[in-house]
Amino acid sequence: MDKMWSGRFNASASSLLDQFNASIMYDRKLYKEDIEGSVAHASMLAKQGILTSEELIEIIDGLNQVRSEIESGSFEWNIQDEDLHMGIEKRLTQLIGDSGKKLHTARSRNDQVAVDFRRYVLRKNLEIVDLMKLLMKEVLVVAEKHSETLMPGMTHLQHAQPINFGFHLGAYLCMFKRDIQRFEDSYKRNNISPLGCAALAGTPHNVDRNMTAEMLGFDSVSVNCLDTVSDRDFALEILFNISTMMMHISRLSEEIVMWSSYEFGFVELSDEYSTGSSIMPQKKNPDVPELLRGKTGRVYGSLMGLLTVMKGLPLAYNKDTQEDKEGVFDAVETAEISLEILKEAIKTMEVKSQNMESACAIGHLSATDLADYLVEKCEIPFREAHFITGRAVAKGEELKIDLSKMDFKYLKEIDARINEDVMAYLELRHSMNARTSEGGTASVRTEEQLEHFKNYLK
Ligand code: ARG
Repeated sequence: MDKMWSGRFNASASSLLDQFNASIMYDRKLYKEDIEGSVAHASMLAKQGILTSEELIEIIDGLNQVRSEIESGSFEWNIQDEDLHMGIEKRLTQLIGDSGKKLHTARSRNDQVAVDFRRYVLRKNLEIVDLMKLLMKEVLVVAEKHSETLMPGMTHLQHAQPINFGFHLGAYLCMFKRDIQRFEDSYKRNNISPLGCAALAGTPHNVDRNMTAEMLGFDSVSVNCLDTVSDRDFALEILFNISTMMMHISRLSEEIVMWSSYEFGFVELSDEYSTGSSIMPQKKNPDVPELLRGKTGRVYGSLMGLLTVMKGLPLAYNKDTQEDKEGVFDAVETAEISLEILKEAIKTMEVKSQNMESACAIGHLSATDLADYLVEKCEIPFREAHFITGRAVAKGEELKIDLSKMDFKYLKEIDARINEDVMAYLELRHSMNARTSEGGTASVRTEEQLEHFKNYLK
């Protein structure tokens, strides 16, 4: 079969080359972007007098026909056509004849693929934002129910200070909001049209780049054609955005896995989003959060892959760049299904508030409150207060009793300056609600934070 570029060759390409070189089996995903790009390009050529209006009509009708063939499944994707750009153009010319051959005037596959892929990535930035907001809404629903549910706040996975579950989930809402902003920033920064850059240096034809940019929904046209045809920053950005988002999802997933264990018992995933074991009849496994954690690794792989593909490329287009697509497609699909399933898992998850609260009864979570009491009420310097509190904790360990439950007489023995009013400070809920500084865990502050997200998601 003759290639579109066969003119300067005497022998035809080996089938091994076809297999190796082709991207058509995966870049066909960009068919809508490709056809819309061609419609815009042809319309511009006609407006500029490079195509006649009859030719334009034929091209548009032809492209519509191609589109319906693709959508009905009758389009023949052929590896010898190499990529979707040539596959579609070849079919167009079969359908409409000579006018089809004029479509590629003032265009190269280099600006064509840059338009198609960029528009796909831009659209996905926004679609992922929508999915993220749906997830955030579900997280918010749970958080709002639990602004008074005590749970052990941890550092080093050791009991640290009492917080509430709504506050804990609020931390994830902050991460997700930053993720959204990253997708939105990328969209804004990269919404620039490559069309009209042609192979690398622009074109002598009198093209109107603003017209095609506007037709395709871009904000402006790119500044330098050499940069434009070799730039894949937009693809790297979405990979980074997805990687960071998945890192956050993975951290939450890890916590859900832990919380689902008997040792924690803080949550139970619904049957719909849990799996069983083929040998152990009693098992109920949290495969969903585990896979979310695992898939994060694959997404990072795509980011590292493309960074590495790009790092040694001289200007401008190089075929290496064709390796940009599969990793992005895979990462985008992973992001989409991950956001959806995490949302459902959270929506249907049972929160075992009682277990969270009981878990607070060990580990001396209110020790910092004793130190703060000594500073505030007894005017003891913090470093000394820290030491005295340490002695109280050691006493608690000896007696096997949590500081919050310790008999006052032991505290008095440790330091005579301590008065009975200390007991209120050691109470766990008091400790949580005492943290009223801005951004703190006190229920009123938590509710304020959740209110912020409620407004954000409106
Ligand atoms: N399939 C190619 C890609 O995805 C399209 C651009 C090809 N351009 C070229 N001059 N070979 O990168």
